[in-house]
Amino acid sequence: MIIYRAKDYNDLSRKAANIISAQVIMKPNCVLGLATGSSPEGMYAQLVDWYNKGDLDFAKVKSVNLDEYRGLSRENEQSYYYFMHKHLFDKVNIDMNNTYLPNGLAEDPEEECRRYDALIESLGGVDLQLLGMGHNGHIGFNEPGDHYDKGTHCVDLQQSTIEANKRFFASEDEVPRQAYTMGIGTIMKAKKILVIVSGAEKAEILKEALYGPITPQVPASVLQMHSDVIVIADEAALSAIK
Ligand code: GLP
Repeated sequence: MIIYRAKDYNDLSRKAANIISAQVIMKPNCVLGLATGSSPEGMYAQLVDWYNKGDLDFAKVKSVNLDEYRGLSRENEQSYYYFMHKHLFDKVNIDMNNTYLPNGLAEDPEEECRRYDALIESLGGVDLQLLGMGHNGHIGFNEPGDHYDKGTHCVDLQQSTIEANKRFFASEDEVPRQAYTMGIGTIMKAKKILVIVSGAEKAEILKEALYGPITPQVPASVLQMHSDVIVIADEAALSAIK
């Protein structure tokens, strides 16, 4: 595991964008596993900037997103589909037919999970998986629990996640109670993983994830078992680690 210390959020965003662009330059038809949340927003803005300057070409890139709220349509501004279009897909030359997210409105959740796993498999797996980290150590929407889920599944969001994510919604009542997420098994199968973590409020959980016991109670701790992980965190997020 390589841990890069970024000075601040801007530095973190640039460092993360550098790794994504290195992947795209080295393998133009790569499969990127993408993530949402506030952590990667600056990174996407940096990628768009480099694309506009002619330094990046997404024409052959394929992407699969980590997760999506269950029950939100694509038009809903809080859906991850909407987020990805707003921050990246509509601003670069990626082929929309090569971008994939779980369908939040799928009628049969089990069938949707099967479809998504088969899709990732058919793409040949993920070359580089981007991850943020929730305040409770979740990755994607793999919440703390007593076991790791292997494949894509539909989860009940924990109250702490609903609280953390309500800032994006008009009220807490509007936060969906369920979401689709890639499983820990799918995430761990990615050839390379990039984790970005920002802010002092994640310092303790980041320390636990990187140096504590490997346990489904801290889902991100499983990343200690992956052979090719890059963590980029700002000084505030690294403040609990000596
Ligand atoms: C959300 C998402 C995760 C994200 C995490 C952290 O609930 N499902 O994929 O990494 O929580 O979000 P943020 O970066 O906004 O702190």
